[in-house]
Amino acid sequence: MIRIIDCGSQYTQNIARRVRELGVFSEIMPFNSSLESIVDNDLEGIIISGGQFSVYDNNSPLYTKEILFSGKPILGICYGQQSIAHILGGKVIPTDNREYGGTNITIKKQSPLFKDIPDKTFQVWMSHGDIVEELPKGFEAVARSQNGHIAAMQKMNIYAVQFHPEVDHTNYGRKILNNFLDICTAVRNWDPEKNYDKIVEETKERIHNKVGVGGISGGVDSSTVSVLIKNIIGDKYHPIFVDNGLLRLNEAEEVKNSLDSFQLNVKYVNASERFLSRLKGVVNPDEKRKIIGNEFVAVFGEEAQKIKDATYLVQGTLYPDVIESVPVYGVSSKIKRHHNVGGLPRDMNLEVIEPFRNMFKDEVREIAECKLGMPKEIVYRHPFPGPGLAIRIVSSDVTPEKLELVRKADAIFIQELKKRDLYDKISQAFAGLLNSHSVGVMGDEGRYEGMIILRAVVTNDFMTSDCYYFEKEDINAISNRITNEVKGINRVLYDQSQKPPATIEWE
Ligand code: XMP
Repeated sequence: MIRIIDCGSQYTQNIARRVRELGVFSEIMPFNSSLESIVDNDLEGIIISGGQFSVYDNNSPLYTKEILFSGKPILGICYGQQSIAHILGGKVIPTDNREYGGTNITIKKQSPLFKDIPDKTFQVWMSHGDIVEELPKGFEAVARSQNGHIAAMQKMNIYAVQFHPEVDHTNYGRKILNNFLDICTAVRNWDPEKNYDKIVEETKERIHNKVGVGGISGGVDSSTVSVLIKNIIGDKYHPIFVDNGLLRLNEAEEVKNSLDSFQLNVKYVNASERFLSRLKGVVNPDEKRKIIGNEFVAVFGEEAQKIKDATYLVQGTLYPDVIESVPVYGVSSKIKRHHNVGGLPRDMNLEVIEPFRNMFKDEVREIAECKLGMPKEIVYRHPFPGPGLAIRIVSSDVTPEKLELVRKADAIFIQELKKRDLYDKISQAFAGLLNSHSVGVMGDEGRYEGMIILRAVVTNDFMTSDCYYFEKEDINAISNRITNEVKGINRVLYDQSQKPPATIEWE
């Protein structure tokens, strides 16, 4: 297993996913983890991530330097390279010649890290302000950037690169990580599908033929975990679906239809009125999230208590939820004000079962499709946030009338994407309602009406994203349908911002 020391990079999860894709199990550890928790018998190599800090910052994530003397192969990435140089007596300095984005590097010396790379000069992705000016004792520079900076260095089994091999924009990035795994002689036995049998065994043992409850949201995580538990324990598992009135058009119905074929005995609770009355007049998004979260816990708790003899609570927690809910894991956690871990009633005294807490979404999707035979519509459904349409009524309070507008526009948008075979090319798409009105011409009258904003993003990890670039014909048709069919809307805007600096949702 490879342990990744997270020093706050937005790309840390990419490293973990890439290593797993290459067949080796990887685990992300906070930078301040103890030596004993990092170095044990399972460890085959360590990767030290990048991060936005300088080694000279007061709050720079300084991990225990003993890991550098553990004898295990090490790969430092970006801040990882700078911190290794700093700790081992080299010199790191800020540079005026900062390197961001695509940059050429040239291999200067043979290295197992660059084994079988056919080009001597190739493009990599850089993102740094500091550079290693002087190598620590015994290290040699094995690659340099087009600006002459040290792009890779090594000594014995400690390797470091200034660029990011884990991002798609680095040519041969996957090959470089693969070479590092060879250096570690890491056992290539990670396979989510094979891991499925282990998950089933472990879960069986934990739930021990007892009665349990779980929440279903319609998303792939909670649906897959519910089908898994149903397969293990049958009718002793009681999934609950809470309709908070903030769902998309026909969503409750669609979820019901798609899960019925798995004989999941889902209890549907319509709590729309409760949620909407609590949200009356609330504009602040954090406040909206808090109210919706608390109300969900209350409704779910009431329903779960009706299930006699329930001893456990099943949650579809994934690995990113675990990482992002722990503040010391890095900057990614600060971007998000929401997380799913621990989001359900604690005082119910139920044992929490999270079979997928070590897995990424694409790994769960693989299990859902190949092991559980779940339909593509569920497996590849775009994610939908817990607070639902409430956070898509932007900078404004939630009313039934506004919900109606955003719901209709969203349904048209998604219908058109499916009709045009665009849905699967986009990671997440949705409509929002802006809190402003603009003048328009309808018939002969000029009048003020509302504005819909559309967002369609392409991303692997939802931590960074690009927008989807529509053909003119597609976006025009979508916009026209919305203004024609949604009464009260006379303008449609398309959000073309990337994350960062924007987020995927608007609030
Ligand atoms: P952001 O807006 O943080 O979104 O770039 C990243 C992903 O998270 C989803 N999201 C949420 N999910 N509760 C959730 O369960 C929330 O409060 C929430 N806010 C954002 C968002 O839809 C995207 O998939």
